[in-house]
Amino acid sequence: MSQLTIRTININHYLEELKMKKKFNRRDFIGTASVVGAGLIAGLPTVACSSVATAKPAILGGPKAFTGTWLSWPIIDQVDEKELLDVLKSLKWCRLGATTAKRFEDEFQKLTGAKYALGVSSGTSALYTMLGALGIGPGDEVIIPPYTFVATYNVVVLNYALPIFVDTDLESFQIDANKIEASITDSTKVIMPVHIGGTPVDLDRVLEVAGKHKIPVIEDACQAHLAEWKGKMVGNWGLAGGFSFQGSKNLNSGEGGAIQTNDEQFVKNCYTFHNQGQGGSVTDYSTGFGTRGTNMRITEFQAGVLLAQMTRVVEQAKLRTENANYLTGMLKTIPGILPAKLYKGVTRSAYHLYMFRYDKTRFAGLDRSKFLDALQKEGIPCSSGYGKMNKSAYVTDLAKNPHYLKIYGEKTMKEWLDRNQCPENDKLTEQAVWFTQNMLLGTKTDMEQIAEAIKKIQKNASEIGKS
Ligand SMILES: Cc1ncc(COP(=O)(O)O)c(C=O)c1O
Repeated sequence: MSQLTIRTININHYLEELKMKKKFNRRDFIGTASVVGAGLIAGLPTVACSSVATAKPAILGGPKAFTGTWLSWPIIDQVDEKELLDVLKSLKWCRLGATTAKRFEDEFQKLTGAKYALGVSSGTSALYTMLGALGIGPGDEVIIPPYTFVATYNVVVLNYALPIFVDTDLESFQIDANKIEASITDSTKVIMPVHIGGTPVDLDRVLEVAGKHKIPVIEDACQAHLAEWKGKMVGNWGLAGGFSFQGSKNLNSGEGGAIQTNDEQFVKNCYTFHNQGQGGSVTDYSTGFGTRGTNMRITEFQAGVLLAQMTRVVEQAKLRTENANYLTGMLKTIPGILPAKLYKGVTRSAYHLYMFRYDKTRFAGLDRSKFLDALQKEGIPCSSGYGKMNKSAYVTDLAKNPHYLKIYGEKTMKEWLDRNQCPENDKLTEQAVWFTQNMLLGTKTDMEQIAEAIKKIQKNASEIGKS
């Protein structure tokens, strides 16, 4: 029986530990080292909030709606310590000539149900490697959403290909799959949808369009560990999927990533691309590929931490789903709070982010920034999420990049700027509110207090606006 199986059996013990940790002394529990994202609050004063209806909002001097303590992220215990120390003492820290990375790949592949998994140094490396393995380069176009972390864009530009933004579906926060076809040209070489927040895009529609035009789909599943479309995990639907294990992610090794695919030749190509174009001496992937390569190898340390973290990932995913569903049930009854829609095919969101839209017209015109401020004062960490990436100078300056001008010419780069309009995404970036995944590892009471805090702000929105 593998280490992973043994640990899975002990998950109830772990969940008890979690509850105890929340109840009693946080410092007695190993592994509450850091917090996720900005504004996470530890050790909040426990102020009873018996009647939200009559209580003053915290921003106006009243008691906080949230009386608990948010769970820090990541979580570790003796399993993590052992895995890490085992690697350290083995004196084999590079995957070449060692076994931990392979062990991780075997377990990750079993977890996700894909035929092949390849560990890499980060989520960005996963995406970069996949584009490299497809031979993407100057003159090629890659379709991406604007509502994503900038890494999705960066990997396209690192290959001197043209990133083509397809607008967002306001209701789901995901790429609008119905708008992909209009952006396809003879130069389109990849469609790279992002399961943003950990919720699957409309994969049926994406695959239908991609299939019709015979364009490979690379799923950016960097936020979507264990997310499912029609009962099958994401990353299994397109040619391949890329995952991130960066510090905030639901599966975390500080930095790290993985590629999963059901295509044997593709994983071989990825392996050789990420290993300086060389086949590995200790793996099965011994064929060379292409004319380009780099080093994107995962370390044995990362793999060891991931093996330990994976012993909890299934139970944590279940808990997030339970809490997210409970929260959605409450939030959707509040006028002006619009939780992100899940498409019909979504059988599980990873809930890396809990996302909703805030309609200020139902809050006496209270600006989102003031709403966020008031919510934070209630003890609820929150943020406004991504900005208008397609309109940022970082992106639009690409039209002035000398290499791009050399490759594509001024006219094409000017047209590229004109093509990048995403009005629905513009709206979304002005309305979005995010909670982070660790908040969903809390209790039902925590979820109730989030809803209570929002109701309290709504009731007093006009007064808050004047403060
Ligand atoms: C959607 C998305 N794509 C790509 C990445 C890049 O992953 P990493 O930070 O591991 O390089 C991230 C990470 O935040 C992400 O959220």
